Amino acid sequence: MTERTLAIIKPDVLKQRKQGHVLQRILDEGFEVLAMKQMLLTRKEAEGFYAVHRERPFFGELVDFMTSGPVIVLALERENAVQHWRDVIGATNPANAAPGTIRKLYGTSVSVNAAHGSDSVENGQIETRYFFPGSEL
Ligand code: RTP
Ligand code: MG
Repeated sequence: MTERTLAIIKPDVLKQRKQGHVLQRILDEGFEVLAMKQMLLTRKEAEGFYAVHRERPFFGELVDFMTSGPVIVLALERENAVQHWRDVIGATNPANAAPGTIRKLYGTSVSVNAAHGSDSVENGQIETRYFFPGSEL
């Protein structure tokens, strides 16, 4: 089924100047880019986006990292988009990520891990609307 997923290219990739490689990979994987923007997240935006993790011990570190520099946020569409993008980015911890995945190529640690992907079809809809409300999509 055609689905939507949210992708975020995280600040560590932009600091390495590798965002062009990740964007080309997105196109090569057959995703349609419905919307895309580079932005410096406010703490409020990062906290709201990762609200499900609010009680987790790494929450502060996660928000610090996600606000440490600009990110690129994309609304992507494709057959099986949610699972496909998660396969392309690889395991949360780059050390466990398969060869050739974005986290293996560009990630550093479990908290500095290069990319985000929605974890369900429902969250793909919620997260793309969070960053691209209303007529932006
Ligand atoms: P994401 O939401 O960013 O796509 O990553 P994910 O689904 O693979 O992992 P999730 O469990 O949703 O965790 C969200 C982000 O929190 C950071 N994290 N740090 N220090 C830690 O133990 C830890 N665990 C998770 C990661 O940046 C992860 O991407
Ligand atoms: Mg997640």
